[in-house]
Amino acid sequence: MRAHDFPVDLDPEGDIPLFVQISSSLARDIARGRLRPGARLPGTRTLAETLGVHRSTVVTAYAELAAQGWVATRPGGATFVAASSRDPKPRRFAPRHTGAGMATSVGFELEPTLAGPVQVSRLPRGGLYLWGGVPDPRLAPVDLLARAYRRVAKRQGATLFGYSVDPYGHEGLRRAIARLATSARGLAATADNVLITRGSQMALDLSARSLLRPGDIVAVEALGYRNAVNVFRRAGAVVVPVRVDQHGIDVDALVALTREKAVRMVYVTPHHQHPTTVTLSATRRLALLDLARREHIAVLEDDYDQEFHYDGRPVLPLASNDPSGNVIYVGTLAKILAPGLRIAFVVAPPPLLARMAAERALIDRQGDAVLECSIAELIEDGDVERHVRRTRRIYRARRDAFCENLERELGSLLRFRRPPGGMAIWADVAPELDVEAWQTCASGRGVYFQIGRQFAVDGAPVQSVRFGFAFLDEKESATGIRRLGEAASDLRRRAAPRARPGRAAR
Ligand SMILES: Cc1ncc(COP(=O)(O)O)c(C=O)c1O
Repeated sequence: MRAHDFPVDLDPEGDIPLFVQISSSLARDIARGRLRPGARLPGTRTLAETLGVHRSTVVTAYAELAAQGWVATRPGGATFVAASSRDPKPRRFAPRHTGAGMATSVGFELEPTLAGPVQVSRLPRGGLYLWGGVPDPRLAPVDLLARAYRRVAKRQGATLFGYSVDPYGHEGLRRAIARLATSARGLAATADNVLITRGSQMALDLSARSLLRPGDIVAVEALGYRNAVNVFRRAGAVVVPVRVDQHGIDVDALVALTREKAVRMVYVTPHHQHPTTVTLSATRRLALLDLARREHIAVLEDDYDQEFHYDGRPVLPLASNDPSGNVIYVGTLAKILAPGLRIAFVVAPPPLLARMAAERALIDRQGDAVLECSIAELIEDGDVERHVRRTRRIYRARRDAFCENLERELGSLLRFRRPPGGMAIWADVAPELDVEAWQTCASGRGVYFQIGRQFAVDGAPVQSVRFGFAFLDEKESATGIRRLGEAASDLRRRAAPRARPGRAAR
């Protein structure tokens, strides 16, 4: 066969290995029918000479083509295009239905679900998000993560990409988290107390699956984290909101509730209450732990941003003072590294973790062990700690600039305090400004924020708003706040009584 029957454009400098370039080119020719079934390919030596490559390159290319089923080797060593080398097309087993594409409805009963509709916050492009206390993904340590992932995948991919991974999570990450929880959060944990989850959301769900039966009572903060409340409702629990003030959840009200009803679980965010950002006072912490011990109540402690405390020292978690094993502690790397990584953890007594691991295996057999191992190495090497120190400085500066701009532009309409930590500001709004109208008017100007009602477990209006200060840099936030001011002025102008023309003239 003559060489021009096999024109292969080789790029010796390119990233793609030569044998792949050769095998792909020949596969394309076979697929297009330029090389027909049964056609004989040139010998490896001949083709190597024609293409100016080493013979072993052509041998490897032919082996690749054979592995993919494009060619077959006959006794004697000659290589031929395989008899059925085209991609098999599935045979149609029913007459074509008239509509285009998949069915748009189901052919069976679909009961309404307690989970409610899926809510995905698809953010319009170019908007300014003064949004619920989320970190800036532009600050994620992408290079560190990518290097660590590559390193671990190459070294341990053969085992970690398999099925034999523990539903508790990668042992190395469990050890690293246990050390972190012990040194920085006072928990005295070992790896046996740690379960890795895909985000706090999974940890909350596994807690509910492991503990709650339909009809159980779960007390939650009345202004609180909807994603948690929805999980408890989905588990069939009766959710009872308990008021929150400047010292956190009202533990006296909780005590009163336990006198009336058998409370199974209390869900709290003691460090920076979500959404009001206040810290649960020391007296209330002790009272809550005491109540939990006396009444055998599980306390689900969601400590989602322990690392981001800017003034003074962070307050230690409830779980650091829980010898009787009432607290289920949930931490996340969402704020530390990036929300999209979906790595969080539960620290709790082993019998509960065993249940959670069993529940987890049902819905998500195992986590991404390569990612978990990579993060363990970054924690052990001190990279995570360095990253936290760097981002803490950035977020602190963003908080200060945000508060100053907010005071300047909207000081007459808002009452707020500079939060000692976290990524959000909670502000009470003067009664003359309709917060819902303000939110709508601001979104018309491309600025998005959340209002109190979105956090109210009973859905009642709340004359407050929440701004996230970490997601945007200082310049972006300043623009957002200026537009908020313009939106508020707009609303005031519209609300001002207009002189009614014409009446006197009649
Ligand atoms: C109260 C609360 N819990 C947990 C999280 C983190 O959730 P996840 O780890 O699922 O990303 C957040 C994030 O904003 C939060 O506000």
